[in-house]
Amino acid sequence: MNQTGVRIAGVGHHVPAKVLTNADLERMLDTSDEWITTRTGMKERHIAALDEPTSEIAVGAARKALASAGLEPKDVDCIIVATVTPDYAFPATACIVGAKLGIQGVPAFDMEIACSGFIYGLTVAASMVRTGVFKRILLIGAEELSRLVNYEDRGTAILFGDGAGAVVLEACATDSLLGVELGADGSNPEDLMLPLSGTAGPALTGADIAAKRNTIKMDGREVFRFAVTKMIEATETALDRAGVKPTEVAWVIPHQANKRIIEAAATRLAIPTERVIVNIHRYGNTSAASIPIALSETYAEGKFKDGDVLLFVGFGGGLSWGAVAWRWTTAN
Ligand code: ACO
Repeated sequence: MNQTGVRIAGVGHHVPAKVLTNADLERMLDTSDEWITTRTGMKERHIAALDEPTSEIAVGAARKALASAGLEPKDVDCIIVATVTPDYAFPATACIVGAKLGIQGVPAFDMEIACSGFIYGLTVAASMVRTGVFKRILLIGAEELSRLVNYEDRGTAILFGDGAGAVVLEACATDSLLGVELGADGSNPEDLMLPLSGTAGPALTGADIAAKRNTIKMDGREVFRFAVTKMIEATETALDRAGVKPTEVAWVIPHQANKRIIEAAATRLAIPTERVIVNIHRYGNTSAASIPIALSETYAEGKFKDGDVLLFVGFGGGLSWGAVAWRWTTAN
């Protein structure tokens, strides 16, 4: 197999039109705009319509990423969707996305690692391109966590939004993948999980549904502690493997779970906040979509220069975590 480099050739994002604000949540729950803003940094999030499945918003992001790369759907030779909110348990949402884009015959599969989905997906897709077997991979992080939330639980209802972000990874002479750290620890799944959603435990009953036992369960304080620690450790390891100092990182694009988590990690890493991308006030936590949405917005603002080192870092259910040091490369 030929070894090649890899770069991001195109980016795009798409969010549903409907917006759920903190003021809306104040009317639904015992909460306040002041509490949500202070504790999380969130102001509003987008919510998909019932006839707008994950594949639909994924296709919206994919079309924009392909257009930004100057490519047609037929130009990609693999589709990967990172999601924990697929259209169905099977077929894979990536297969449905391919059909909606009019692509037939190319491999397509989903990756399920919650909010770490884009970091894991980027590592897998970039590695596949580096083998020389795949020339262009469409990688999409797409989530509709609003479908899994109990809107009577103020501890989780305020956090999540829906959206999709996509990148086209392309073979090129220079290599953008500088350093990676991925990890997972499944010993305490109850810290963050969707119970009664698979083959473990009893079958879901009508009583379970009425009691909303099949909605997201989370120990917020435990996840907060874990998130700050792992974001720091993963960043240090990925940068060390890349031979890059924190001062040399042009842009940090973190998973958008809580502004306080992002700020605590950036402070401990001595990375100035003006180099850390935060858009959590407009989208909430969109799980595997949050990093590619932030990447796409920052790209559209023209902030990246050729050669910039970007640092993608995130964490999520699993528990799982990861960081990727990436060189922004425009030449193919
Ligand atoms: N409005 C008002 N009060 C609230 C709300 C709310 N929405 N939610 C909780 N409270 C109350 C609690 O009941 C508690 O009251 P008490 O002191 O009387 O018991 C008080 O506020 C403090 O609660 P904490 O849970 O300690 O609040 P904290 O500062 O930890 O913030 C939060 C909670 C925002 C959930 C935070 O812990 C957090 O962000 N954790 C990480 C979450 C996360 O990153 N999840 C990742 C999901 S990714 C994935 O893979 C799906």
